[in-house]
Amino acid sequence: MTEPAVAVRGLAKTFPVPFQRRTVVAVRDLNLRVEPGEVYGLLGPNGSGKSTTLKIILGLVPPTRGTAEIFGRDSSLVASREEVGFLPESPYFPKYLTGAEMLRFYGKLCGMRGASLTKRVDELLELVGLTNARDRRLGGYSKGMLQRIGLAQALVHDPRLVVLDEPTAAVDPAGSREIQDLIRDLKRRGITVLLSSHLLTQVQEVCDRVGILAEGVLVREGSIGELLAVQNQTEVLLENASPQLLERVAAIAQESGARLVEHRKRQTTLERLFLEATLSGDPEKHPTSNAHRSTSQ
Ligand SMILES: Nc1ncnc2c1ncn2[C@@H]1O[C@H](COP(=O)(O)OP(=O)(O)O)[C@@H](O)[C@H]1O
Ligand SMILES: [Mg+2]
Repeated sequence: MTEPAVAVRGLAKTFPVPFQRRTVVAVRDLNLRVEPGEVYGLLGPNGSGKSTTLKIILGLVPPTRGTAEIFGRDSSLVASREEVGFLPESPYFPKYLTGAEMLRFYGKLCGMRGASLTKRVDELLELVGLTNARDRRLGGYSKGMLQRIGLAQALVHDPRLVVLDEPTAAVDPAGSREIQDLIRDLKRRGITVLLSSHLLTQVQEVCDRVGILAEGVLVREGSIGELLAVQNQTEVLLENASPQLLERVAAIAQESGARLVEHRKRQTTLERLFLEATLSGDPEKHPTSNAHRSTSQ
């Protein structure tokens, strides 16, 4: 059996409430496994324990009970962090640095120097579609651009696992779509992604599996297909169907003991409608799609 990218066993975390004789239970008895190469989404409302779980996995917060491992190494060991990159929920990056300077800074923190550092910074800027903005100060970046440079920062030392806390929150639909595309790109490169989100539709398309947290308990887990399937129903998509054909389909279904429950014009999503209406005809607004074309060659 392959070693899991993340293994969490019997995890619990209780925080004391300052000046009061009570505690807050953030996580209770959590078990979680993320396989190498998979995109796993930890979903749940605000306060359900997502960030606490991620910080324990990263070794930034000690658990009250239980264990967390990254590629078989206990999260309390500093060495476990060599394999992982992290984009926190509200990262702070100095506003006066340019995108390229910020990545150089983080590269140096990881022990990189000279020509290999310069090459890595260029690669990362290209990957996240910010080559054109490399010499602009972060203070002038949009929220979406900040998330993308933050993602580049998490990738600087070429980790096998990246942990993203609410990567699409506070970003507009176009920015969110770019981050989703980048996550898919990471998966293609064999990088395991563990992300958290309270924005369910945004992660639905990128996650292979999701776990739903409620008050520190994993209440559901599975592949998106499994979780969203309505077990006894099947959707059929027809093009150019006449009313007569639909009547015949309903009759055939009835003959074999099934029932045509409904038929309607297929709906697009509000997100797709928004993206089509706001991005049409302006390729400048698709920085990552350009980056993808060049990086996937
Ligand atoms: N450092 C802390 N001190 C005290 N309580 C905390 C701390 N961090 C988180 N909590 C509490 O733990 C619960 C879970 O928080 P969190 O993990 O941030 O949830 P989420 O990321 O799902 O919004 C919340 O009730 C929160 O107030
Ligand atoms: Mg959080």
